[in-house]
Amino acid sequence: MKRVTKAVFPAAGLGTRFLPATKANPKEMLPIVDKPLIQYAAEEAAAAGITDLIFIIGRSKRSIADHFDKAYELEVELETKGKLRVLEELRGMLPINVNCIYIRQAEALGLGHAVLCAQPAVNDEPFAVLLADDLIDGKPGVTKQMCDLYSYYQCSLVGVQNVDPSETASYGIVAAERMADRLSRVTQIVEKPKPADAPSNLAVVGRYVLTPRIFHHLRHIERGAGGELQLTDGIAALLKEQQVLAYEFDGKRYDCGSKLGYLEATVEYALAHPEVGAEFKAYLQKNYCVASGTPDPA
Ligand code: G1P
Repeated sequence: MKRVTKAVFPAAGLGTRFLPATKANPKEMLPIVDKPLIQYAAEEAAAAGITDLIFIIGRSKRSIADHFDKAYELEVELETKGKLRVLEELRGMLPINVNCIYIRQAEALGLGHAVLCAQPAVNDEPFAVLLADDLIDGKPGVTKQMCDLYSYYQCSLVGVQNVDPSETASYGIVAAERMADRLSRVTQIVEKPKPADAPSNLAVVGRYVLTPRIFHHLRHIERGAGGELQLTDGIAALLKEQQVLAYEFDGKRYDCGSKLGYLEATVEYALAHPEVGAEFKAYLQKNYCVASGTPDPA
């Protein structure tokens, strides 16, 4: 029985929707309150027991490696100034048994190509894929939910959620046969179909657990939607020889690849933040008459 111990974080996209913020910085480094998106994803993977974090980075992506590196000068300075709480937080960002591996994707040829770049570090092991711009608040984290399912079913899984039928052209969409609560067997998967061509409105979001056989298929796929090498097309080929399950995860997803989703996540995480949450709530209530949390029954 295999367990998932590796996770791949594709982070070599151009981030065009957030320009100019992403001109010299990857979108995965955009912060939600005080943590970059990539750190939320890395913490989610570490909490699932994953020990090898494999980042696929492109140009101007050095900041991701810098972010997870030890920052000696900063640590000395914080210590000298007695800012010990922040220092502790920095030092404990990831468990000490976690390794970070960086692989450069020379050209942004698509998500399928990015995942294929991870093969030398993944080898013949099952692995998770996390798209950091899909921020998912889940307890436990969605990667843990999916790794536990992998331990039981020993097959590939894609995280899915129902989307409005008008939105299918923004997602990989699956057709699936229900097996159990939250779990279905994928029979078809297509990348970004128009609503009229979509087999359902069950959309793949940025969480996957894949068997290493996916690499064989990713080497053979051709350019698909948007002229890119699509992970979805690799999974469609995998499906012909191995079972793939669709898992309706337990958690709230924020599409931080879009400005609106990013802002929604910022507001929700700020409201829940131990340091600024209460003041931020008061600010919103005063200036925007926003009633947040459980509606008052009175
Ligand atoms: C990618 C995948 C798509 C998936 C989506 C989830 O698309 O190609 O299948 O549904 O992530 O966020 P992107 O958002 O990178 O265009």
